[in-house]
Amino acid sequence: MSIGSSARSSGLEASGYPILGDAEFDFIRHVVRANAGIALGPNKRQLVQSRVARRLRELGMSSFEEYCQHVRESGPEELVALINALTTNVTSFFRENHHFEALASTMLPEAMARNAASRRIRIWSAGCSTGEEAYCIAMVAAEVMPLTPRWDLKILATDIDSNVIEQAERGIYPLERVATIPQSRLRRFFRRGTGPEAGYVRVRPEVAQLVTFRTLNLLAEWPMRGPFDVIFCRNVMIYFEQRTRERLIERFAQILAPGGYLCIGHSESIHGLSSPFKSVGQTIYQRVGEPRVR
Ligand SMILES: C[S@@+](CC[C@H](N)C(=O)[O-])C[C@H]1O[C@@H](n2cnc3c(N)ncnc32)[C@H](O)[C@@H]1O
Repeated sequence: MSIGSSARSSGLEASGYPILGDAEFDFIRHVVRANAGIALGPNKRQLVQSRVARRLRELGMSSFEEYCQHVRESGPEELVALINALTTNVTSFFRENHHFEALASTMLPEAMARNAASRRIRIWSAGCSTGEEAYCIAMVAAEVMPLTPRWDLKILATDIDSNVIEQAERGIYPLERVATIPQSRLRRFFRRGTGPEAGYVRVRPEVAQLVTFRTLNLLAEWPMRGPFDVIFCRNVMIYFEQRTRERLIERFAQILAPGGYLCIGHSESIHGLSSPFKSVGQTIYQRVGEPRVR
């Protein structure tokens, strides 16, 4: 199969692996953009080829044509599997740690002052991947918030990818994933596995019970009403087109409490968007203005 030719058709590589043709690549890109907002540029061909080839093998299919036909015919179920295959789930504990420092020093104390009467605090990790971000929020909250009198603190953690949500809910991580967490935090918030779980840690129930994991497509209807005091949506919007980002920022503004915060990823910016946010730190934005009347 000639890789250099400008138009490619599906077929088998000399090695016997299925080749992704132009029509199937375009179809997959279209379906993933329309349903998940994820914009896969022409340079993502190799990524699509290798990730979706795995799915073909699981289904015992030998060509991308057959697979695309299957996506067309089987509806939402295969669409979920296709999107799961094409999300990028890179994450880590205390990634971009300045957000967690600001959560402890500013965002949570302000929310506690603002919500002193209701004693209710809501935080959303939107695009949470395998859960590290949400558990970090929970650890910081456990450190900062007094246990008595009790606060009604809930952390919602959502992702479009049902596989990562399953992993996140388990709360079990290999030791190397927590290697950078200081010993004091590790001892307080994780239980070390023994026997078949040796080499792993499990998030302690006191931390885990603060977090609710759900599958949610950010482009779809949101079942929750808010208001949230803090939203983390980090390293998610980089995969979206500008229009999708703008719409999402508007929706975040509507569901955030005035004075609430939005944290985004290091390579993301909402600069230049007309939105009710002011920049208050490195990739940290505060919602200004009055709440929208519902
Ligand atoms: C690179 S991870 C970021 C994880 C974490 N927020 C962090 O910064 O470490 C991006 C996550 O966004 C999720 N994602 C992509 N498109 C989405 C969508 N339309 N709705 C919800 N989640 C989405 C992916 O499944 C993936 O787990």
